[in-house]
Amino acid sequence: MTTSNFLDVTAIKEDFPIFNRRIRADQKLIYLDSGATSQKPNSVLDAERNFYQNHNAAAHRGAHQLAEEATEHYEVARAVVANFINAELDEVVFTKNATEAINLLAYSFSNAKPGSNFHIKAGDRIVVSEMEHHANLIPWQQLANQTGAELVWFPITPTGRLDLSNITNLINTRTKIVAITHQSNVLGTINPIAEMVKAAKAVGALFILDACQSVPHFAVDVKALEVDFLAFSGHKTLGPTGVGVLWGRAELLNKMEPFLTGGSMIENVTMQSATFAKAPQRFEAGVPNMAQAIGMAAGLNYLSKIGLPKIHAHELELTKYALEQMSGIAGLNIIGPNNVEDRGGVISFTLDGIHPHDVGQALDQYGIAVRTGHHCAWPLMRALNVVATTRASFYLYNDISDVDALIAGILKAQLFFNSPKKSA
Ligand code: ALA
Repeated sequence: MTTSNFLDVTAIKEDFPIFNRRIRADQKLIYLDSGATSQKPNSVLDAERNFYQNHNAAAHRGAHQLAEEATEHYEVARAVVANFINAELDEVVFTKNATEAINLLAYSFSNAKPGSNFHIKAGDRIVVSEMEHHANLIPWQQLANQTGAELVWFPITPTGRLDLSNITNLINTRTKIVAITHQSNVLGTINPIAEMVKAAKAVGALFILDACQSVPHFAVDVKALEVDFLAFSGHKTLGPTGVGVLWGRAELLNKMEPFLTGGSMIENVTMQSATFAKAPQRFEAGVPNMAQAIGMAAGLNYLSKIGLPKIHAHELELTKYALEQMSGIAGLNIIGPNNVEDRGGVISFTLDGIHPHDVGQALDQYGIAVRTGHHCAWPLMRALNVVATTRASFYLYNDISDVDALIAGILKAQLFFNSPKKSA
């Protein structure tokens, strides 16, 4: 079966040339690792090539025709991003990736002068959660270490949800920053952002949303979410590597200290001092990743053409089917929610008696690509009392036959490793 109730996966797959190649002794590629990085459609590959072939020059510099065209293509890419998340144009900052976007915030805050809203000091509090990716944990740990602020976190429940029962204690008048993932890259859990944003606003704290696993998969509207900052990467939204986005409210961005300094982010420079441009240029020092931003926009346009509501519904259909199939496998443990309520198309699991890396290697022998390990979320692994998991993640180019292949692969891996089964 290659179509779902929502998407024509056969037609979609034809747009992604990587699915023409064969894997491990001439097998079909079953790509279940889009949580790590997505595959790229021809329109993205063409957009990057077209830029280099026809318009290559340094954007925002030079008076010649190519420089003008490069600037225009780059700024159109920014408009596509802004439109995709319902943001204003000058609120979209291109970064190297989401990790850099979050580091930009933490570094900028660490440079804030006393008296600024962004100045973090001893006694202040930074709130994260136990299910954060390292990219949305370590920058805040560092900021807390440098400033003497206290880092606290929402714990998780045994079913992989955030435990908000202590929310008014965690987000209190000392809280300056709340930085939370929209959807867990490990568990697929979609977090109750509205409740946390409300609590943050009530105490005047900044709310930062790690949207790496949400923006590619369902409609995200920064105005409706009422967050202050949001970060995501291009390579998970069908785009190239090397580009990400920091979105922030303009009135905040324009008051923040720069992160990287240098060319094109300035207003005026003397030998001894400089004043800085407004956002987004304020945060885009150096010649930007133009081709990557343009490729990213092509990826977002592709997603918009298919429609995010359909993509999300399709992923949930696959997830529901996969969870049902997996629940019938003795010795398989779902790590995270075992239903599709407030959940995306990411499933982590373990198999009794088989290390997740071995599971990943066994699946690879059948052409099935999954991620294994701690998924850059080591504290979450500890909280769940697992060393690692195997993770399958679905996207618009996956179909039910991919889930069937995964299930068959798991059963074969169990047979191969002759794992002891516990009763179903
Ligand atoms: N953050 C990516 C993942 O979860 C790389 O796999």
